[in-house]
Formats: sequence, structure tokens, C-alpha cells
Amino acid sequence: MENEPEQIAFYESDMIKDLIGALKGRAPAGLMASFRTAQILFGIAALNQLSGFLDASLEEEDRRALIITDDFTVKFASQISKELNKINMSSKVWSGVKPEAPFDTIEEAVKICEDFKPKIFVAIGGGSVIDTAKAVMIKYEKPETNLYMILPFGSLGLRKKIKYLIAIPTTSGTGSEVTSAAMLTDINRDPPKKLALAHSELVPDFAVLITDFVKDMPPFLTMATGLDALAHAAGAYVSSWGNPLTDAMNIYAIKEIITYLPRAYKYGAKDIEARLHMQLAALMAGLGFSNSRVGIDHALGHSLGKVCRVHHGLCVGMFLPYTIAFQAKISERWKDLCPLFGIDSKNKDNDELFIEFLQNVKDFIYSLDGPVCVKEIKNPVINEEEYHKNLDLLVNYAENDAVALLSSRYIDKEILKRMFEYAWDGRTIDF
Ligand SMILES: [Fe+2]
Repeated sequence: MENEPEQIAFYESDMIKDLIGALKGRAPAGLMASFRTAQILFGIAALNQLSGFLDASLEEEDRRALIITDDFTVKFASQISKELNKINMSSKVWSGVKPEAPFDTIEEAVKICEDFKPKIFVAIGGGSVIDTAKAVMIKYEKPETNLYMILPFGSLGLRKKIKYLIAIPTTSGTGSEVTSAAMLTDINRDPPKKLALAHSELVPDFAVLITDFVKDMPPFLTMATGLDALAHAAGAYVSSWGNPLTDAMNIYAIKEIITYLPRAYKYGAKDIEARLHMQLAALMAGLGFSNSRVGIDHALGHSLGKVCRVHHGLCVGMFLPYTIAFQAKISERWKDLCPLFGIDSKNKDNDELFIEFLQNVKDFIYSLDGPVCVKEIKNPVINEEEYHKNLDLLVNYAENDAVALLSSRYIDKEILKRMFEYAWDGRTIDF
């Protein structure tokens, strides 16, 4: 397998960085315009719709499903197995997914596939589960593929062994149920580093939203995954990579998150309406960023998350006020978001309006008991001296992140370092 020490992803090579830099980051967007999505099933008949489709489209000899999950979400597997049983489908449960999808788990699942020979994958879980399923599909179908070298264009040639990848999310944030992205963890780096895969063949064939599976999320997970969805939509929208299709997804996702995330956070399982709206909002944000590009809050967030072991959604949500301010120097797209936060822009100059907008973003995060700077992170508390001692590593991981490569405003190590410094105590980005 490819997990030898020192191996780097294609987007970390200087040649690729120079090439994309010469194209001014944004240019590849024009080459890759498309809108890809899973078939989306939701509502009380979602599972019936799915099994009806599978019954009609699968031959008798192909009715084997591998249910991919982790040791927490495995509790939902029996409901899916029962549904598949009704159409004479046998299923096997593999609950070996680990948080943040480390490489070694992929190999374990591939071995099970070689023995069981599933025709469909059903991934039930959060982002790590669905992302692991995507990586397992690649390595099962094409064992020779080097995960470090998957380019976001061309063909991978998947779906020869696995006919359908079905994603059933148990959180409302990553959007992985409809995206072309998979975030893995390269455990051969010290500390481990995120490895980003992006390819249209990784978009699941079905995204099935079962509100029962998300309704009991604890408040912290609701908040952190909800902030991830907000970062996807807002980061992608202000990055100016989008088109009317992705803009529609991102704008509406932000509107829904502002309305329903505080309710989902506060009332949990008692507010099923808010839970359903958050499922759809996270999915829309997933479509919005997957078909354009996620904001650089994710480059900073991936790095902080790995180096200081902070929840992904919490990191990217926290960086949003900094990366929006950075982007605002070259684009006024942030203005479109003001009405969503209830801000009246009449008789205000740009500076006044921006200050009010940024404060509203921060207040929204505060309303969910989230942090807006590193020193406010409680889970875990980050020591100031330790943070500053790790700055070079934080910068290095952020600069070598796939998201940084596609920033629509030029960034380099110096800029990233200043952003990390400002984020320690919440200074407003002024460069
Ligand atoms: Fe994310």
C-alpha cells in the first residue's frame, strides 16, 4: 500500500503549486465547470424508495451489501440490513472505521471486500465513515491506485465492482453524502496530516437522509458539524469560484443554517423540523462547495485540527471571520450575505457594513457557544506558548493543503502565519 513515510500528495509538489499559481488559482474553475450530485432521498419513505430502486435494478446474484460504519453508528446498521433483507439482499457489517479515516483501516476493509465481494456499499455515519467508504471503493476496485496522486479530473474507472455507493449521514455538516471529496489521515506524518481526495467518481450514487439517525446528536456535535456546513457554504460563496447553481445552494444553505442550527443546538431531538432542515442545509452546502471550491478556512482548519487535535467543524467555523475578511479585500461577495444575517445595508459605507457583518458572524458562533479565536477553544484548551511554538508546523500543514492551492486570493507562508497569529486572540484581518 502507499503509506510509506515521506510520501506527499500531488498538490504539495512545488511544480503543481507554481503551475496553479501561474493560472491564478481561480482559472481551473472554468475548465472544470459541472454540477454533480447523488440522487437525494429524504422523508419518511426514503428507505422504501431506496430498496424499491435496488430491487428493480440489481440482479439476484448481485444482492450483497457491505455496510460500512464505526463502533458508534453501528447501532443503525440493523435497520438497514432488515430493509435490504426484504429484497433478498444479504449484508455484512464492517464497523472498523476510525475517526478522521486513517489509512490503515482502508486496507482492513478491502480485505473484507475481496472475501465478501459486495455489489453495493452502504456507508452509515459521519464524514469519516463516508470518506472511508470512498477510499475503500477506490482501493477495492483499483488496488494499484496511489491515493496521493488522484487528480481531480480524468477517469478513475470505478463502479466495475461496486455498482452503487449509498451514503446515509448521521451528522449534519460534512456534506460528504453528495460531495466528490474524501478527507483521510496520513498516519505516516508526525503529527498525522490530512490527505484530500477529490474526484467526481467519489460522489455517492444515493444520499439517504434519515432524520431519526441525526436527532440524538449531542449539542457539541450539532454545533461543530453545523459550523462545518456554514464554513462550506460561506467559504465557497465568498471565494468567487462559484456559478449560479452553486451560489443557489450556498446562499440557501446559509439562510437555513442561520434559522435552524440554533434550534437544533438548543432543542436537539425535540425539534425534528430543525434537524431535517439542518440535514438538507448541510447537503446543500456540500453541493455548493463540492461543485465549486471550499474556502481557505479549511486549509487553516485542517492544519489546526490535526496539530492541536480540535474538531474539524469547530476549527473551520472559527476561522471563517478571518478568511472572509481576507477575501473581502478582493471581492464584495460578502455583501450578498448581509441580508441573511438580518443586516440592513442602507446608509452604511462599506467599512461600517463589513464591521457589522463580521460581528454578526461572530455573534452567531457565540450564540452556539462556539469559539471565534484559538484561545477561546475549550475542547481541548490550547496553551499559548505551545500554539506559538507550533506556528511553523501549522503554517506548513496549511500551505501544503489542497485547499490552499486553489485559493482565489494569493496566499503564502507569510500570510498564513499572520492569519494564525491574528486568530490566537481574535484580531481582525487587516491585510
Ligand atoms: Fe468541512
